[in-house]
Amino acid sequence: MEMPNCINLSVGEPDFSPPEYALEAGFRAASQGSTHYSATNGVAELRDALSDKTYKDYGLRYDPSSEILVTVGGTEAILAALLAWLNPGDEALIPNPGFVVYEPSVLLAEGTPVRVPLLETNSFWPRPRDVTSLITEKSRVIVLNYPNNPTGAVLPYEEITALAKIAVERDLIVISDEVYEKIVYDGSRHYCLATFPGMRERTLVVNSFSKTYAMTGLRVGYVCGPKELLSPLWLVHQYMVACVDTLSQHIALAALNGPQDFVRDMVREFDRRRRLVIERLNEIAGFRCSLPKGAFYAFPNIEGFGMPSDKFAEFLAREAEVLTVPGSAFGSGGENHIRLSYAASYQKLEEALERMEKALRKLT
Ligand SMILES: Cc1ncc(COP(=O)(O)O)c(C=O)c1O
Repeated sequence: MEMPNCINLSVGEPDFSPPEYALEAGFRAASQGSTHYSATNGVAELRDALSDKTYKDYGLRYDPSSEILVTVGGTEAILAALLAWLNPGDEALIPNPGFVVYEPSVLLAEGTPVRVPLLETNSFWPRPRDVTSLITEKSRVIVLNYPNNPTGAVLPYEEITALAKIAVERDLIVISDEVYEKIVYDGSRHYCLATFPGMRERTLVVNSFSKTYAMTGLRVGYVCGPKELLSPLWLVHQYMVACVDTLSQHIALAALNGPQDFVRDMVREFDRRRRLVIERLNEIAGFRCSLPKGAFYAFPNIEGFGMPSDKFAEFLAREAEVLTVPGSAFGSGGENHIRLSYAASYQKLEEALERMEKALRKLT
């Protein structure tokens, strides 16, 4: 169906362009011949800069030659980690609702996905008792993702402490997807999982330039972890992609080394949009949405409309020409919700909410 007037709030990518200084560094690298394969684990200067970054941000020092792997976005890092560490039949605990890549990646690795509920009534944090009750002798990996897609939740210190304790006691490998680490609001703080007691040695921290520097199409991510955990990913990566696009790595390097005002300004603008979206959603009878603390998604409850989330999203697409994602796309735990990305312009968001309100009046 052609929908030329449609406003798309379904995509998870910033509407910003990467910082100009980073793109210029890419052009320069191209003209200086950086068009060859890089080292399999990434351009050396980029790994050095990432080692400094994790130290500066979290006091974590990763050895650039053996503990950092530059990947094709966070997406490749997640798949490589699961392919490397799951044997057929091993169980991987993944969030429900959760980022759409986790379940298929576990299945590709011939593992068994075990869904950990993230309840709205518990601020979309996993409850330690639920996690414990789902662990069996086959459990190998737990995937955590904060700031969270699709809920926008951020995990507080005490909650992480409890989960870290379980991971240590039950000897789980933790894949901590922290691609939204810089996108937090209201003075909330993001804690890197690997900084908690006993966690550095069992955690693969997945990260990416996609969201922080609006570089989704350039495909640069990375994963940090102790050598013993990381080296099997390196092999998967080598035979899957050989290396990440060398020019994109130079752009990423310049983005990391340049002034960080870009990130601060982008997050400030997301914050403005976040307030608009949540306020307007709560003005429409039927929605219930608390203010998310991170990422750039609103995940309102839609029970008030008495419709399954796929039908509701279809209704909004047809009647309001606004595209959203049904919560069920993120797992059964996402039912009764839709996800709206506010990484679209303020003006588009205003218009989209206007249209939604008008269309939803037909239901009452
Ligand atoms: C939670 C989460 N992890 C990882 C990714 C992967 O992004 P990329 O492969 O562009 O780094 C995304 C993208 O939407 C995401 O939402």
